[in-house]
Amino acid sequence: MKKRVFLSASALAVMALSSAAVLAQDNTFKIGLILPMTGQQASTGRQIEAAAKLYMAQNGDTVAGKKIQLIVKDDTSIPDVTKRMAQELVVNDKVNVLAGFGITPSALATAPIATQSKTPTVVMAAATSSITQASPYIVRTSFTLPQASVSMADWAASKGGMKKVVTLVSDYGPGIDAEKFFKDRFIFNGGTIVESLRVPMRNPDFAPFLQKVRDAKPDALFVFVPSGAGAAVMKQFLERGMDKAGIKLIGTGDITDDDQLNDMGDGALGVVTAHHYAAAHPSAMNKKFVEAFKKANKGMRPNFMAVGGYDGMRVIYEALKATKGQGGGDALLAAMKGQTFESPRGPMFIDAQTRDVVQNIYLRKVERQGGELHNVEFDVIKDVKDPGKSK
Ligand code: DHB
Repeated sequence: MKKRVFLSASALAVMALSSAAVLAQDNTFKIGLILPMTGQQASTGRQIEAAAKLYMAQNGDTVAGKKIQLIVKDDTSIPDVTKRMAQELVVNDKVNVLAGFGITPSALATAPIATQSKTPTVVMAAATSSITQASPYIVRTSFTLPQASVSMADWAASKGGMKKVVTLVSDYGPGIDAEKFFKDRFIFNGGTIVESLRVPMRNPDFAPFLQKVRDAKPDALFVFVPSGAGAAVMKQFLERGMDKAGIKLIGTGDITDDDQLNDMGDGALGVVTAHHYAAAHPSAMNKKFVEAFKKANKGMRPNFMAVGGYDGMRVIYEALKATKGQGGGDALLAAMKGQTFESPRGPMFIDAQTRDVVQNIYLRKVERQGGELHNVEFDVIKDVKDPGKSK
C-alpha cells in the first residue's frame, strides 16, 4: 500500500514536470543565433549579439504571448561547425527561427537544414548574392556585395574621374561577387581594370599584393575584405606610401568598418566607399540607435553588422506578431516576406520574391566629425535591389 502511494506520487511529479515542460515549450519562442564569437570574424559576432540584445531590451522579451529565448552559439566561423550547431538547434532545442551567419560559407552550409526542417533562417551578416537562392527559407537583412560594388563602380567612373583601377578582394563568395560586379560595371562605364588580385580569406598577407598594385600605378585600388580585416589593409596601404604615389583607395564599406575606423588614423581621411550603413547616417532614428548601442556596450560604435542584427530581430518580432504567436515555419516565413520599415540605415524592404533586402546605397567619404573618424554620406542611390538576382 505504502509503495503504491509512493509510486503514484512520483508518477504525479513526472506528469507535473512534463506538463510544465510542454507549457514552457508552448510559451517560448526560440531564436538560435549562430555567430562567430571567437576567431578572425569575432567582431561580427560581438556586434550582432549586442544589437540583438539591444533590440530585445527596447522591445521587450514577450511577443504575441510568447517568451523570446535567444540561444547564442559560437561557430568560430567554421562552416562545418555552423552546420552542426544549426542541426542541434533545430533537432534538440526545437528553435522556431535560425539567425546570424557571419560569413557566406556558414550561411550556405546551413541552407539545406533550413529547407529540410522548414525553419525560417535570417541571414544578418553574410552577403554573397546567391545565399538567398540556396534555400527558400532564407531571408536576408544584411546587404549584397553587388549592391555596394555596382554603386561604387558608377561613382568611380563618373564623379570619381577614375579610368584605371586594380581590384583586390578576399578569395571567396563575397569577394568574387565584389570583383565581378565592380569590374563589369566599371568597364561598361568606359573604365579599364588593369589587374584583378585575390587574397586568401584566412590570415591574408596583403604586402605582396600591394606591391603589385604599386607597380601597376592605377588611379585607384578597389578593395573588398570581410569585416575586421579593413584596418590591416589600410595600414599596409599607407605604410607602402600608395596614397602618396597617387593611388586612391576605394571599396565597399567593409573596408572602412565603423568597428575599426576611428583607430585607423588620419591616413584614412578621404577614402570613398559605397555601403548601406554608416554610424554617421544622419537620421533621428539612427542617432537614437547609435546612442543606445554605445550606452549598452561601453561606448562601442555599431557597424553594418550590428544594423543587420538589429533589423533581423525586427523582422522576426514582426513576423511573430503578424502570426499571433500561432504560426509554424511557413507562416512565419510568409510574414517575413514583404516587410517594409524604417531601419537605422534608412528605408528597407524585404522583397517577397527574392527574400533579399532592397535598400539605399550611400557614397561616403571618411571625414573627421565630432573629433572622430566617420563615413560621412555625400550621395545616395535609392532602393537598390540586388543586381546579382537579374543574372
Ligand atoms: C561577408 C563577411 C563579411 O565580414 C563582410 O563584411 C561581408 C561579407 C561574407 O562572408 O559573406
